[in-house]
Amino acid sequence: MNETIKTILHRRAIRRFDARQIEEDSLQQILQAGLYAPSAGGRQGVIFAVCQDREVNERLGKIKRANSNPRMATATSYVSKEQPSIADDPKLINAFYDAPTVITMFAPKNFLFAAEDCAVAAENMMLAADSLGVGSCYIGQGWTAFADTYGQEILHKWEIRTDYYAVMQLLLGYPKADDNHPAAKPRKNDRVLRF
Ligand SMILES: Cc1cc2nc3c(=O)[nH]c(=O)nc-3n(C[C@H](O)[C@H](O)[C@H](O)COP(=O)(O)O)c2cc1C
Repeated sequence: MNETIKTILHRRAIRRFDARQIEEDSLQQILQAGLYAPSAGGRQGVIFAVCQDREVNERLGKIKRANSNPRMATATSYVSKEQPSIADDPKLINAFYDAPTVITMFAPKNFLFAAEDCAVAAENMMLAADSLGVGSCYIGQGWTAFADTYGQEILHKWEIRTDYYAVMQLLLGYPKADDNHPAAKPRKNDRVLRF
């Protein structure tokens, strides 16, 4: 198995972060991986807003949590036992899980492939992160973090164009030192059709 395949299989969503900020050199490499991702029509429309201000990240994460209505986990249906999500643990009040780096990915509102462009960039970045020992988590419905007055102020402060919207967030940080790397859930059968 080559290193790329090993990284793909190794990457897991990390939600329990060490307080330490990630190395700037790692952040630059992760951003480079996003900038070199495919994009529909080669348009490179995704904007990567990197926020390492803990207070801002915490406030936006709390707004997002307040605007989320997660289906709560049951004994047989859960997101992750090792790295609980807001659907697993109602005590988690920050939907960004105190990640030290939160990258909001914006794309044009009026573009058919806005979400896909962000998702492929995010996957490149999550794999780059894993290869560098940085944990990551994809957070969907990015706009809900900005859905109040404070969120709108931040969009204004960051000078985000009004014809762009927050598709998603990518959380980055070092996994907690004492945690084991999470195991992947077993893969469901019969998802590959061959003809
Ligand atoms: C489109 C998408 C949206 C997601 N949104 C969230 C989210 O809002 N909160 C969260 O904690 N994890 C979110 N995740 C991460 C998934 O929960 C995670 O990828 C999944 O449980 C599988 O675990 P793994 O990434 O470790 O294989 C999202 C993943 C994807 C692909």
